[in-house]
Amino acid sequence: KDSVNIGLLGLGTVGTGVVNVLTANAHEISQKTGVPVNIKKILVRNLNKVRNIAAGAVLTTNADDILNDNDIDIIVEVMGGEQPAKDYMLRALNAGKNVVTANKDVVAKFGRELFSAAEANHVDFMFEASVGGGIPIIRPLKQCLAANKLSEVMGIVNGTTNYMLTKMTNEKLDYETVLAEAQAKGYAEADPTADVGGFDAARKIAILASIAFNARVSLEDVDVEGITNISPVDIEYARELGYVIKLLAIAKESEACGINARVHPAFIPLNHPLAAVGDVFNAIFVRGDAVGETMFYGRGAGALPTASAVAGDIVDVARNLRHNVNGRILCTCFDQKPFCPVEN
Ligand code: NDP
Ligand code: HSE
Repeated sequence: KDSVNIGLLGLGTVGTGVVNVLTANAHEISQKTGVPVNIKKILVRNLNKVRNIAAGAVLTTNADDILNDNDIDIIVEVMGGEQPAKDYMLRALNAGKNVVTANKDVVAKFGRELFSAAEANHVDFMFEASVGGGIPIIRPLKQCLAANKLSEVMGIVNGTTNYMLTKMTNEKLDYETVLAEAQAKGYAEADPTADVGGFDAARKIAILASIAFNARVSLEDVDVEGITNISPVDIEYARELGYVIKLLAIAKESEACGINARVHPAFIPLNHPLAAVGDVFNAIFVRGDAVGETMFYGRGAGALPTASAVAGDIVDVARNLRHNVNGRILCTCFDQKPFCPVEN
């Protein structure tokens, strides 16, 4: 191929970031892929909105314009929500198009169906941005750490709640004010209940645990408690005792009991590395029998950090397209494994 064409589904926080990264770094990206990468068409809901991107791509409200376009090689789904996002991705895979997504709702719930469609159609399905925003964590788990017996994946995986708890702790701002700030910065989900209720973190730990333990872990397998009941008094007590409150996502596998996955607020001692993870940053610890403990750290949400991960996936797919080797780095064969009802 002498160029790679993208159909972008969504032009909100992340979609705008993706356009801006692909535009600003077009030269570097084409050097790495060997071909120019163009955004050909973009799906939006409202054609009248003012858009903060360079002119070029055609905006449409009709998904068929994009999904039926034989000239489009990669569908980049950054519209969010379960439907119609999942159906669009499935249609794209079954039409032989590669798919890149940031959508943890869909990956956590329908991942296996989409992996299978990608495998059957010999195309790539990439979802690095679905966990940890700009932090590389999916590929490290799938590839670099694949030879380990992994026993634990844990950390801070939601940028909105970490931003809120950091501001409530350091600046003593109230819950509603910091939630509104997180929304204004583009960190929160369209429905922020998913963030503050812990479900976004639960979806992410389900994705990470599925890959780390080669298991079928779904949202229903994760015990979830969010930050909605955290009050300034809790934060003050924690501080007096030498702790900060963080929303943790934890998944462990033990031979004796099986997998346990949970999300809940926790008191973290001030001298623990996670206590220093502030603002929108995320940090994820992974423990393996060969590697020991590793930590992945960076911005967990926001336009450009998330676009960095999405665009990284696009670069990989474009390289594969150039060499006609798409569909070769999948992770589809998750086992049924026992779950452990108690912390292990
Ligand atoms: P936004 O709400 O900012 O953007 C959504 C975009 O999709 C908008 O452009 C909207 O169109 C378009 N859209 C939504 N539904 C439809 C529809 N039915 N038909 C056509 N267009 C539609 O979301 P974000 O950019 O924040 O998030 C996108 C995805 O990325 C989500 O899955 C989210 O979980 C994930 N993500 C987000 C991160 C972040 O920091 N925000 C970080 C990591 C992942 P219009 O502009 O016309 O309204
Ligand atoms: N709402 C999510 C968060 C976006 O705050 O972490 C990144 O997945």
